[in-house]
Amino acid sequence: MTGQVRGVQLARLLGQWHALPGRRRSPDYAALAGAVRGLLADGRLPLGVRLPAERELAEALRISRTTVTAAYRHLRETGHLASRRGAGSWTMLPGNHRVASTGLWTPLDDRDMIDLGAAAPAAPPQLLAAARAAAEDLPRYLGGAGYHPTGIIELREAVADGYTARGLPTSADQIMVTSGTQHALDLVLRLALAPGGSVLVESPTYPNALAALAGRRARITTHGLAADADGWEPDLLLGSLRQTRPKLAYLIPEFQNPTGHLMPAALRERVVAAAHAVGTDLVIDESFVDLPLDGTELPPPVGVYDRHSRVISIGGMSKAYWGGLRIGWVRASAPQVQRLAAVRVGVDMASPVLDQLVAVHLLAEADAIVADRRVELVAQRDALLGALAHRLPDWRVTVPRGGVTLWAELDGPVSSALARAAEEVGVRLAPGPRFGLDGTLERFLRLPFTLPAADLVEAVGRIAAVRYDLDRTGRQRWREPAVIA
Ligand SMILES: Cc1ncc(COP(=O)(O)O)c(C=O)c1O
Repeated sequence: MTGQVRGVQLARLLGQWHALPGRRRSPDYAALAGAVRGLLADGRLPLGVRLPAERELAEALRISRTTVTAAYRHLRETGHLASRRGAGSWTMLPGNHRVASTGLWTPLDDRDMIDLGAAAPAAPPQLLAAARAAAEDLPRYLGGAGYHPTGIIELREAVADGYTARGLPTSADQIMVTSGTQHALDLVLRLALAPGGSVLVESPTYPNALAALAGRRARITTHGLAADADGWEPDLLLGSLRQTRPKLAYLIPEFQNPTGHLMPAALRERVVAAAHAVGTDLVIDESFVDLPLDGTELPPPVGVYDRHSRVISIGGMSKAYWGGLRIGWVRASAPQVQRLAAVRVGVDMASPVLDQLVAVHLLAEADAIVADRRVELVAQRDALLGALAHRLPDWRVTVPRGGVTLWAELDGPVSSALARAAEEVGVRLAPGPRFGLDGTLERFLRLPFTLPAADLVEAVGRIAAVRYDLDRTGRQRWREPAVIA
């Protein structure tokens, strides 16, 4: 058992369960049970948590207790709930299927599935040669123990040079190499956020960042992003910072995941000034900074405006290079890097030397690799946009000027139901609510354009087919949950 979810929390997660498609055909209790199964299926409701008492949930949802009783009974019958008299009811999976209760899940090894849950591309062709060259370099390191908590010096230098080239002078002692950007975020949170600390995040935002924040039991407030090109509403964002005075704010200014928005230079400067004024640390996730498309000019890095070591930047190689490398980094002040290294040795000691050497070779060819990647992404994005305009013309999308995702506004609050139906026809989707804290993003769907164009077009065709079936059938079958990246 990992804990308890309260009535109001579950009600928030359930969002607009009563308005989901197919409702006209199913009784309230079945719809409620289906919505709870949906939350379990996409990981928003962990396994082994205790659900609220029937009366409490009935009050939170403003429905009759009989409906909740029947829904819980239904969930017990389908194997999604275990109850003990007097002790309560816990979430579980049918057939005693056991998985971690973190909300992260192992993907099905299903080659016929078109996976639009992960927003990350396949490796570039240069990777193999880089790996061979790295193996040749390895003897230089074999005489030592191989533990480099802040990373091998040649990779730290290469990453520092990248920041300097972007207009943010950086030395190697300001860089710590990590095993991916997610690892970087976790370490920074361990350093900068006491358990239960307050954090401001964008909504929607990257789901695994929410998972990392949940790990710190952070008290999260959100700043809602507009779906259209405006993105951050500057006065609202600055107002939120001033009013809530969070300990930390986590922002993704370059081609935000999932919306694709790019924060303008003027707002970057104002955010840093406001953060300094209220004592907020800024964690700036630059995962997509290498991927401006259509010749879009990047504003200066947020760190350029930082005079007081308020900004910690994190980034990595998963989006422009390959997620399987597991190479990321933190850019901070040199003393902060030393403190991070002290935290890190309590977690994993250091990143693998061989992988870091591969990264060094890839970064030496950054210009060519990234240029090819951008050409590929533009072609895939345009194929996806074309297919959407043709097959789902009622959906609204803003063309992102970079990154790897579209944030589509749907023709109804159907995202979770659509994701469940799409699994049935071999398309895995990351529904809108996965990118928020409550059930309010049902009108949105994140669509990455990291797969080959033909797969994207095929996926849209299948999604369009199930979209039109949805209102008529409203089927809600159990599916195993999947990784969102
Ligand atoms: C905004 C953001 N941060 C972090 C990550 C995790 O990246 P990594 O594979 O480098 O850990 C992702 C991956 O999707 C992301 O989109």
